[in-house]
Amino acid sequence: MVPLKRRKVASSNGGQSSETDPSKESRFPQAVIFILERRMGASRRTFLAQLGRSKGFRIEDTYSESVTYIISENNSGDEVRTWLGVRGQHQSRPPVHLLDISWYTESMREGLPVAILDRHRLQEQQGDPVEAPAFLAASYACQRNTPQPGHNTLLTAALSVLAESAELNGDEGRGLAFRRSEGLLRSLDRRVQGLAELRGLPCLGDHSRRVIQDLLENGVSSEVEETKSSPRYKAMKLLTGIFGVGVKTAKRWFTEGICSLAQLETSGHSLNAAQQAGLKYYTDLNQPVSREEADAVSVMVEGVVHSVLPGARVTLAGGFRRGKMSGHDVDFLITHPDEGKEEGLIHKIIACLESRGLLLYQQNTRNTYRESAKGAGRPSSSMDRFERCFSIFKLTNDSSPEDTRRAQQDPERVRVEADQTGSGGRPWRAVRVDLVVSPISQFAFALLGWTGSKLFERETRRWAVRERSMSLSSHALYDRNQERYLRASSEEEIFAHLGLEYVSPTGRNA
Ligand code: UTP
Ligand code: MN
Repeated sequence: MVPLKRRKVASSNGGQSSETDPSKESRFPQAVIFILERRMGASRRTFLAQLGRSKGFRIEDTYSESVTYIISENNSGDEVRTWLGVRGQHQSRPPVHLLDISWYTESMREGLPVAILDRHRLQEQQGDPVEAPAFLAASYACQRNTPQPGHNTLLTAALSVLAESAELNGDEGRGLAFRRSEGLLRSLDRRVQGLAELRGLPCLGDHSRRVIQDLLENGVSSEVEETKSSPRYKAMKLLTGIFGVGVKTAKRWFTEGICSLAQLETSGHSLNAAQQAGLKYYTDLNQPVSREEADAVSVMVEGVVHSVLPGARVTLAGGFRRGKMSGHDVDFLITHPDEGKEEGLIHKIIACLESRGLLLYQQNTRNTYRESAKGAGRPSSSMDRFERCFSIFKLTNDSSPEDTRRAQQDPERVRVEADQTGSGGRPWRAVRVDLVVSPISQFAFALLGWTGSKLFERETRRWAVRERSMSLSSHALYDRNQERYLRASSEEEIFAHLGLEYVSPTGRNA
């Protein structure tokens, strides 16, 4: 690999950007301010925080014990206290002033914290006292903890169908809107009982709210049911279920009247190698991969990688790292502690897998990533440029992790068994596996990018650009204001650079 062009390199243990450095000199040390994002939105909050800092105020990005002033807009005192309760705050700390935004704007105008008057203090809620408390959630999925499967699976499954249908129509914007609603609902810490509890929440558009209302009142949504039974949705789902077939190709075939695999096979279309493999192993590849199967594949991959490059590290990424119990494929990141040792590794791994008869199909790409001086040369969000292998593994039916581990000691046995293919109940099944090789210097970024979920990644990148003026990819983080790359050797450091609270992999199921 060509050595990275080292520009002004940030220390990797610097942790936080100067903007969020709490130790930075404040002109008014007694006022430690936290601005609540709820009902204000992240962009306005960022703007107000920057304004305050430029005037010498100490503004905290995250809420902590040291905060003495909480500023909020359009929230009652009750609502803010509920929020503090959610954060696990107790009474045993110094009193916090709960203030309206008017105190903040007046202080900005005066250039110092103005005296607190009654009208600055948050009012108590007037509303119906028996109404269920509203949920609280931050705007960006990367600011929230989202477990799998969440407490609202009826709602999230329905919104996922509508998102998928929009995506299959090529309507990315609409798909994203439903994905954001879905992600938000999955992050809620209890079951939604009524639409009123969702008041004031971000990410929920009118359309999603209508669907949720239907589901809460009737247990089903007519729109979702109609979508699921529409010939177009069914055909597009079937055709894009073929490995190697994207939305565009499927749409073209559907327009020609192709709605089934049999029709595709007799249509005379010439399929590329990936699509041929996709058709051949269609049933296997559309059967979810279980956690146990993923573990068995891990053992296979580790055995092969260690045999071709001792000291290399294999990390399970994707949905399984997020704690999912099943997935559509198994994703692995591979690196070596000595930068450069990983170069060309993918070819050695493939050769070894092939010699053991473990690959049914593979397509690999070499690493084409180069750090650009302007930091802007990043590929589109879902693309990266690592050495990579999209493959289909042959997983023998008795491949429990223990059996596989034992078989690693005796590769010849595996090869012979794997050859007994074809006729009747075959003793193996096809599993999609992605292998990605990263240089150690980019590993933390690759791990964050390949752990997902897709929405979580997307939101992290959107946060970086809009709230921090940074560009994040699976290779690097570039600070556009400081015009330099920010290095990181762990995911925690990346979150700190971004001014985000750390979210563990199991909380990234947005
Ligand atoms: P997957 O598509 O494998 O999704 O991508 P998943 O979350 O593991 O879910 P299932 O269970 O397999 O369906 C895993 C992560 O890798 C990133 C995606 O953005 C996602 O976050 N990815 C995937 C890339 O960065 N580039 C790719 O080309 C593909
Ligand atoms: Mn995956």
